[in-house]
Amino acid sequence: MKSLYRVSYTISFFFLFSSLCNTSILDSSVLVSVHDPYDPTGNITIKWDVMSWTPDGYVADVDIVNSQLYRTVQPPGWKLGWTWARHDEILWSVFGGQAIDQGGCSRFISNIPHSCSKRPVIVDLPTDTPLNQRITNCCRGGRLSSRYQAINKSTASFQISVGNAGTANRTVRMPKNFTFIGGRAEYICGPAKMARLSRFTTPDGRRTIQAFMTWKVVCTYKRANVANKLPTCCVSLSSFDQGKTANCPTNSCGRRIETCNT
Ligand SMILES: *[C@@H]1O[C@H](CO)[C@@H](O)[C@H](O)[C@H]1NC(C)=O
Ligand SMILES: *[C@@H]1O[C@H](CO)[C@@H](O)[C@H](O)[C@H]1NC(C)=O
Ligand SMILES: *[C@@H]1O[C@H](CO)[C@@H](O)[C@H](O)[C@H]1NC(C)=O
Ligand SMILES: *[C@@H]1O[C@H](CO)[C@@H](O)[C@H](O)[C@H]1NC(C)=O
Repeated sequence: MKSLYRVSYTISFFFLFSSLCNTSILDSSVLVSVHDPYDPTGNITIKWDVMSWTPDGYVADVDIVNSQLYRTVQPPGWKLGWTWARHDEILWSVFGGQAIDQGGCSRFISNIPHSCSKRPVIVDLPTDTPLNQRITNCCRGGRLSSRYQAINKSTASFQISVGNAGTANRTVRMPKNFTFIGGRAEYICGPAKMARLSRFTTPDGRRTIQAFMTWKVVCTYKRANVANKLPTCCVSLSSFDQGKTANCPTNSCGRRIETCNT
């Protein structure tokens, strides 16, 4: 009798969650982006702060802020790409991340840039990255927590030094066509827009510094990636029933990640 009760309990959960899943499959084929009814403004915002000028460009701190309440980014991790707007920018260096492609740097003879790709794609560094190559909020193998899960791990950061870029507000250009992949989930990114200049407090707390330029890009969840075509609902029957940890690399239903204990 008890087990019968348990079965019907589980089945009703199954229908509840599969109907949520179906809704999100339907939405994603019809709409451009799927808004989570539990978290309608949840998004991933890219913040690009130009912090200093260099002889041929600038140094920028780039933050990837996951403001989604429940949706995390799991392995294989985040990938952030863009197209340079002046066309001949290069990445002299990247700290706390790396470009996956060096691109064509053959015109450089001695000082070889980190990447000359017209469309660089940056990924995170692994968790065992040595201390002297780390910056704050880097090196988690591309993972990003949701706000609900751990707000202090919901931002990823890297620092870039950009060359051939213009060396003043009037000559630098915002990159275009940002793309963001969050593990096995795809996002749609809007255009880069000028934003209120970021302010930072120095580590000793005695001084406030301000970015020279701040650009923001908002990326919203689109759907689970082609790699796992049909979203498998993250709440598996047995795991829910037995209170065990479900193996749930992507939160493909898009919500209630905490039920998966990832
Ligand atoms: C993106 O998220 C931020 C932080 O929650 C919010 O302030 C902003 O309005 C959101 N933007 C969009 C376009 O939903
Ligand atoms: C981050 O937050 C979690 C709980 O949300 C906490 O357990 C952990 O200690 C925090 N870590 C740091 C470095 O503050
Ligand atoms: C933006 O980048 C994607 C990925 O590389 C590419 O397929 C697409 O054509 C680009 N769109 C524009 C307008 O450049
Ligand atoms: C232009 O750059 C200067 C510093 O070089 C900065 O103080 C100023 O706020 C910038 N203006 C805009 C509109 O971003």
